[in-house]
Amino acid sequence: MNGPVAIILAAGQGKRMKSEKAKVLHEVCGQPMIRYVVDAARGAGAKTIVVVVGYAADQVEDYLHHEPDVLFATQTEQLGTGHAVKTCRPLLAQYQGPALILVGDEPLLRPQPLADLLRRQQLDQAACLLGTAALADPTGFGRILRDSAGRFLRIVEERDCTPEERAITEVNPSCYVFELPGLWDALDQIGTGNVQHEYYLTDAPEYLKAMGRKVRALNVLQPDDILGVNTRQHLAQATAIMQSRIHDHWMTEGVTIVDPRTTQIDPRCTIGCDTVIYPSTVISGVVRIGSNCRVGPFAHLRDGTVLDDDVEVGAFVEIKQSRIGKGTIVRHLAYLGDADLGEDVNFGATAITANYDGTQKHPTRIGSRSHVGAGAILVAPVQVGDDAVIGANAVVTRNRHVADGQTVVGVPAHPLEPGRRHHPTRVPDGEDAAAR
Ligand code: UD1
Ligand code: CA
Repeated sequence: MNGPVAIILAAGQGKRMKSEKAKVLHEVCGQPMIRYVVDAARGAGAKTIVVVVGYAADQVEDYLHHEPDVLFATQTEQLGTGHAVKTCRPLLAQYQGPALILVGDEPLLRPQPLADLLRRQQLDQAACLLGTAALADPTGFGRILRDSAGRFLRIVEERDCTPEERAITEVNPSCYVFELPGLWDALDQIGTGNVQHEYYLTDAPEYLKAMGRKVRALNVLQPDDILGVNTRQHLAQATAIMQSRIHDHWMTEGVTIVDPRTTQIDPRCTIGCDTVIYPSTVISGVVRIGSNCRVGPFAHLRDGTVLDDDVEVGAFVEIKQSRIGKGTIVRHLAYLGDADLGEDVNFGATAITANYDGTQKHPTRIGSRSHVGAGAILVAPVQVGDDAVIGANAVVTRNRHVADGQTVVGVPAHPLEPGRRHHPTRVPDGEDAAAR
């Protein structure tokens, strides 16, 4: 077993979510919460990650099962966080070393403070090092009790707090590093003598201390990092914070986001510099956007979209699983699915690829400098060569191959008679170039 290991608690139902879905699979910026926690643990240096599953365990395992460093421990009854950690014992029986313990419903955790905790625990040779945070409003969290010299004493759950303890603002965000196998001894000691009659992991540090082991609490976490999602309201708050981190990142990289409040960008998306994202744009899934593109307003770029440099995608355009070549314009009301467009293509207003026949998806290929007229429908699979012209409202039917330089018009699309062939000139900067 490669260390350090991480244990992520994710067996609880999250009753207040009122959901049949496992709580940790609810999405923040298009990805399940557990994704971020697993990535943070990995980013902090964890080499093996044990996820404790219980409620809707199969859903969580389905989501993570292809990740080779992730193992699962099943907690059939949710008897508390201490009990949840104990379910990992058989898997980790042979392991000696640090275990980073996190909860799956804190998606805003970042790797850096967790890496710091791991490093400090090794330096201090502590049996337990817990990360803490100071919150203006500590409601909902366990409180950190210290003695008059500031040394860690114990964690008190909010439900078990006296009024004085309740006033403490230093909280337990459930980010711990415990040395194994020492933790197992402490977990054997904890009981259920608390308001909830549960096995509390939060009792373990106190037991280790009582056994004469070194236990430290370090205030290394930021309030934003530890937002715990227990309700749909928390989910929206976490999404807003995560989204502003993503915006910040891309603005720092030279991307203009005209109105961050209405712009949604998936964490898996990449964007080149000098690209401008106009308001009310939604970018979801793995999307790659080149430099100097203009996207939106009101554009929807979905999974598998690749925009090369200098591409323009305008209002009410939806694109999924498609590559759009350099300099191509898709300016108004269009749908592209499973398409590959060359360079400097003009894809007209309300033109679409009909990529789905009810059972299967089919590809569309459009060569460079081709011009797809307004309202055209390309019933995939379709191939359009370079420098071709599709007339306005033409329906290019399934398996058609429009040759290089050819013009087709009508329903179903057919070549324009000789002598009537025309070459529309592109108006590079004209506002209505793509509309024609
Ligand atoms: C816990 C901590 C509290 C801390 C707070 C926020 C305990 C006793 N309390 O309280 O000090 O401030 O988190 O970090 O640990 N889980 C299981 N199995 C169980 C119970 C819980 O896997 O039997 C998982 C849940 O799915 C969740 C996490 O553990 O991801 C925390 O459980 P939760 O019930 O939310 O604990 P809190 O009451 O928030
Ligand atoms: Ca919680």
